[in-house]
Amino acid sequence: MVGVRWKVNWLVLVGLVVSGVFFYFVTSPLITKCENNSKWKPEVLAGDRNVGHHSYLVWPAFSTESFLKSTFFKQKCAPAINFTMSNLVLVKKQWSTAEDFRCRRLLEKFLSIFTFEARDAPLKLPTKFKDKVKHWLGDNDELLQQVYNQEVIHVVSEYTREHTIFNSLRDKRPVLPPAESEDDYFKSLLAETAKNCDFCNYKENTAEHVFGRLESKHSFTASNAFKLDTLHALVAPKKHDPLHWSLEEFLDLFGLVGDWLKKAHTYYPDARFPSLIWDVLPKCGASQVHPHLHVMLDPKRYHGQVEAWREGASDYYRDHGSNYFTDMLSIYSALNLTLNHGAAVAFPNLVPKRDHEMIVISKDANEDFYTLLFLVLRAFIDSFKVKCFSMGMGLPAIDVEEGRIPAYARIITRGYVTDIRTDMSSLELFMAASVNIDPYRTIHTIKQFIAETRLHL
Ligand SMILES: *[C@@H]1O[C@H](CO)[C@@H](O)[C@H](O)[C@H]1NC(C)=O
Ligand SMILES: *[C@@H]1O[C@H](CO)[C@@H](O)[C@H](O)[C@H]1NC(C)=O
Ligand SMILES: *[C@@H]1O[C@H](CO)[C@@H](O)[C@H](O)[C@H]1NC(C)=O
Ligand SMILES: [Zn+2]
Repeated sequence: MVGVRWKVNWLVLVGLVVSGVFFYFVTSPLITKCENNSKWKPEVLAGDRNVGHHSYLVWPAFSTESFLKSTFFKQKCAPAINFTMSNLVLVKKQWSTAEDFRCRRLLEKFLSIFTFEARDAPLKLPTKFKDKVKHWLGDNDELLQQVYNQEVIHVVSEYTREHTIFNSLRDKRPVLPPAESEDDYFKSLLAETAKNCDFCNYKENTAEHVFGRLESKHSFTASNAFKLDTLHALVAPKKHDPLHWSLEEFLDLFGLVGDWLKKAHTYYPDARFPSLIWDVLPKCGASQVHPHLHVMLDPKRYHGQVEAWREGASDYYRDHGSNYFTDMLSIYSALNLTLNHGAAVAFPNLVPKRDHEMIVISKDANEDFYTLLFLVLRAFIDSFKVKCFSMGMGLPAIDVEEGRIPAYARIITRGYVTDIRTDMSSLELFMAASVNIDPYRTIHTIKQFIAETRLHL
């Protein structure tokens, strides 16, 4: 009896489901048609070249040919102004009255890419607090006068929606050396961590991708043990020291990055969008002192900020019909902020995320690109005496012509390695970056470093 009852219930249930499905198939095209409902589209498959609502067009190839020479710019577009970050507001003013049509054409690009604004920020100080502030400023009366009439410069990158605020007064405060010597800290950290380092014994202590491990003379690859994507590799030098490496070791490391990307793409032909990050030392968030790059290869899009630049470049192309990166570089070059090495160019970002941000850019991830990147990083370490830095990099997508970005790297410095306060706060994560160092000073020091050393190139 119980068995029959069960069968009847079961038949009724099946009947209901079948008629429900039937009803749905008969009516849904009608509903769709009546409401013209755009929701009923096939799902975007992994590897499809459209990203969400954003489909990319093929835009003109990136070029490092500058539109205007900086000497021409200085003579014709903005004469009689010494170029500094705070003077760029004056440069803009004078530039907008220039008569030469080349100046005016470049100004159009400048105004569309950057919003550049100086704002007065006056204040009053009660007597007691005034003494304290004066002390913070090294008891310098001239600097104290500047406190009352501060000037804050807001720079917005209109296509990538980045926003940086400069207050030059903050950079004029006397810098107190860290309580603990950075060199001592670094030396003992290096010795301590080398004793029991997983990456120094990578064959036993690191994971591999299913398609195996790659090795070169100075470097090796591993799979991250706790992955952020199907294809998430660690590419690392065999040497433990994160700050001292030669050009040969550096090129070997990035050569292996290229090899890994090729291998991963062969194994997963849908994976096409390479991006890379590198943090040096715990202050920057590195989990291991042994240097290691995180390399991702995504089937749909670049990760995060890299894709945001690509989207900005796409919007720019729709508005102006030209390559965003080419035009941006033309502006930096006219403003005398660029440094060339063969096919690659380096310049300090005018909308930096952190102090000294430098961008290195080239059509492809070629040897010039990595050599210039090496020179900039060596200048950070040897000339600015920086021990911790962070880098993000995007490389041209594999076999994708739409929305093509050049190879570019962004490198920032992260303050004293011994300073346990983090330099990243909700301000940087959710609002604007606060940066104090003049990009003109950054490029000047780097040019000087390269001119003086050239590092046996
Ligand atoms: C649906 O909407 C699109 C544009 O919104 C229009 O071109 C198309 O004719 C509409 N189709 C129907 C069946 O109403
Ligand atoms: C460009 O900057 C360099 C220093 O970085 C300076 O020597 C040179 O005179 C500048 N050129 C122009 C045209 O301002
Ligand atoms: C530019 O700098 C030079 C040297 O520092 C100085 O002599 C000159 O007056 C400055 N020019 C302007 C317009 O500020
Ligand atoms: Zn190690």
